[in-house]
Amino acid sequence: MGKLLKDFLYILEYVHGSITENKVGYKSRLSGAPEKFTYVRRFIMKIAVINGPNLNLLGRREPEIYGSGTLEELQKMLIEASEGKNVEFKFFQSNSEGEIVDFIHQCIGSVDGIIINPGAYSHYSIAILDALRAFDGKIVEVHISNVFKREEIRHSLITARAADAVIAGMGFEGYVFAFFYLLSLSE
Ligand code: DQA
Repeated sequence: MGKLLKDFLYILEYVHGSITENKVGYKSRLSGAPEKFTYVRRFIMKIAVINGPNLNLLGRREPEIYGSGTLEELQKMLIEASEGKNVEFKFFQSNSEGEIVDFIHQCIGSVDGIIINPGAYSHYSIAILDALRAFDGKIVEVHISNVFKREEIRHSLITARAADAVIAGMGFEGYVFAFFYLLSLSE
């Protein structure tokens, strides 16, 4: 095949998104692609931050356990932590299991990583577990409180079976650690 044609085919593949892409959103050169494309093009890493039931009440809900910060402040913390990095967050909160499942479905193929605090659903939602298992990127499950120090009903984390990492008991910082963990996988 002529060099020009090879280049052209490579560009076509690039434009149509079939160039090999690693799990966390960076595209690299196809093996055999022409030399002039050897640079690694950096794409924006997309991270979904999903909060489950009652987490919209952060700041007002049991502050002795969850602290006085609001959900908005939590999201601001993440945005600040991501400053200067090539990251875009998609924030989502819902009190409904079905809506969380639907949102995870939307994440498939469209975001690189998920940070999820499924709230009480963590302890029993097989539907959320199954949706997370269908997701093709990295997943970190976060709990603001140390669930293992609390009532026994909170000790079993069903949804965490789909997670690559689990953080519990670090307060809001747990989300920031989860973010840096996902980021570290892409660098
Ligand atoms: C929580 C712990 C869950 O047991 C509880 O139902 C929540 C919040 C946490 O972040 O510590 O809603 O997930």
